[in-house]
Amino acid sequence: MMPKERILQLRDELNQHNYRYYVLSQPEISDMEYDRLMHELIALEKEHPDLADPASPSQRVGSDTDNTFTQVKHTYPMLSLDNTYSEDEVRDFDERTRKTLYLDKVEYICELKYDGVSISLQYENGRLVRAVTRGDGEKGDDVTPNAKTIRSIPLLLKPGNHPDTFEIRGEIFLPHKGFEAMNAERAETGEPIFANPRNAASGTLKTKNSALVARRPLDCYLYYLPGLEKHFSTHFESIQAAKEWGFKIPPYIKKCSNLDEVFAFIAFWEKERDGLPFDIDGIVIKVNAYRQQQLLGFTAKSPRWAIAYKFKAREAITTLLSVDYQVGRTGAVTPVANLEPVLLAGTRVKRASLHNADQIALLDIHIGDKVTIEKGGEIIPKITGVDLSARSADLKPVRFIEKCPECGTALVRSQGEAKHFCPNETDCPPQIKGRLEHFVSRKAMDIGCAEATIEQLYDHGLLKNAADFYNLTAEQLVKLERFARKSAENLVNSIELSKQVPFDRVLYAIGIRYVGETVAKKLARHFLSMEALRKASVDDLIQVGEIGEVIAQSVIGYFANERNMELINRLVQAGLQMQMMTVETNISSTLHGKNFVISGVFRNHSREDIQQLIASHGGKNQSSVNSNTQYVVAGDGMGPAKREKAAKLGIPVISEDDFMQMISS
Ligand code: IVH
Repeated sequence: MMPKERILQLRDELNQHNYRYYVLSQPEISDMEYDRLMHELIALEKEHPDLADPASPSQRVGSDTDNTFTQVKHTYPMLSLDNTYSEDEVRDFDERTRKTLYLDKVEYICELKYDGVSISLQYENGRLVRAVTRGDGEKGDDVTPNAKTIRSIPLLLKPGNHPDTFEIRGEIFLPHKGFEAMNAERAETGEPIFANPRNAASGTLKTKNSALVARRPLDCYLYYLPGLEKHFSTHFESIQAAKEWGFKIPPYIKKCSNLDEVFAFIAFWEKERDGLPFDIDGIVIKVNAYRQQQLLGFTAKSPRWAIAYKFKAREAITTLLSVDYQVGRTGAVTPVANLEPVLLAGTRVKRASLHNADQIALLDIHIGDKVTIEKGGEIIPKITGVDLSARSADLKPVRFIEKCPECGTALVRSQGEAKHFCPNETDCPPQIKGRLEHFVSRKAMDIGCAEATIEQLYDHGLLKNAADFYNLTAEQLVKLERFARKSAENLVNSIELSKQVPFDRVLYAIGIRYVGETVAKKLARHFLSMEALRKASVDDLIQVGEIGEVIAQSVIGYFANERNMELINRLVQAGLQMQMMTVETNISSTLHGKNFVISGVFRNHSREDIQQLIASHGGKNQSSVNSNTQYVVAGDGMGPAKREKAAKLGIPVISEDDFMQMISS
């Protein structure tokens, strides 16, 4: 098959699989197979740049190059909706509507009000050409490269009778699962966590690096096609058509022929909204017929043909009984309030988060206070206020603890940190157990060992650190409660298998603070072995893309600790993978004695790839140009200072292709 044919075939297949997976939720092939097709396509497109297509599914992986967002004027201003909070106001809306239309009855469409970020998508000849944020309603930011990474947004519409050019609007949001995973990752790398999924979605959409956006599981529901009055007679019809063109249309839409049906829809979702995998903050009620919408028109701010019924904030008032302090896997201490049980959004709540010492100080909270609790996007409710007028004089303020409730060590709070930490990493029980849980987790060593089993082994003194796993025998295990011969053997086998887990995951598994999955991969690819990483200086570390001072210091601190080195030595003894296997570390010595500086962004390779290639061919990477530099490898957007310096010193500046030539000869 000619490359062009294969490329077109792959695009078509990937588009279909994408649609089945992300729009219909009915995948036909495994993730692995999908990735394989995608890699084949990306490789072919690299080989044949003349066949590039901005609507190719390969665009979904984004790019590491910084986007700049240009401002674009909306064809139709992006208005907001009138908000109401009561049934009476909905009745008023209905009355006004019927009066204006001289009608006894109006048909409405009820939809969920998705709590995300609104987006306008423009299509020309069936292709996504532009995605623009709401902005101030008149003008928004062009975020097309980011929107293209959202798998449920079609880049290419299904063939059919869609208009040549049209605009469709919807809401980009982050489902709960993705939100929690994203925050867990941020906590691990020391980045501030997002307060709720809406902020996380909005922050992600504004990220300049679309490759990063591609890694976030953003989703998009479409709900409005402005300006298509000639094509359809009702809103409902337009939405059904959009579904046929390939858009993800929410299944939670209802045609209502009277107000009672509208209220039933509201009541249903007010109760059931916690069961949805994403946040909603109300219900949108829209007049269905376009003809009627046109007669009703717009005010300066919002359409007169629609209204949003907002759910009441889910708050309750109760009494603060006491405060507990929980010590997490990283040693972070979280204050948790014990409350007089109270009903909130259908569940009985008796605990709420107090976040950190600052929050306690801000609320000036006392034991026995009447407090307001609120349920937002998070699982555990939070305390948002204190009723000072209800406070009696004898109540005592909450004083943040000074010692770890688990091991008694004095807590520390570093500058710029919101949280207190227990610094006793090696002997504080929850930290030990937490580290063991992390070590066995799926993305780390993938050892099939449940939390309860870790607890049991720890309590029996069989497990104090990760290296102890590799001394466990089936004979020891069967002596324990709940262990049968079979389960004991399974665990031992699973531990044995973990010795094949690649180095980057071992590095992630040992739990260096701020070294999450992605950072571990970067470090492993750059340094290639535990030994090389151990010897790295802060300067060496911050040379690796996206590794900053904080991570570098944490890595250095980890290896400086003797107990950690003992652990690593025992893991080496046990036979774990301590170097990258997939890359040959010494491919040639073509570049021996040559120093390189790389700068800018490359077309076919990541910066790390090029650095690795330099090292594996015997060359050395330098961070700045000096008289010892032999070559500067320049990509797009190379810094002018570097270029000037190279020119001054007469150092040749070569391209990515020149470099590849150099190592292939
Ligand atoms: S229709 C002319 N439908 O709510 C206005 N909006 O407060 C057309 N929203 O900016 C908007 N879910 O971001 C519509 N089912 C839904 C919605 C929805 C959420 C958002 C949208 C809009 C805001 C208005």
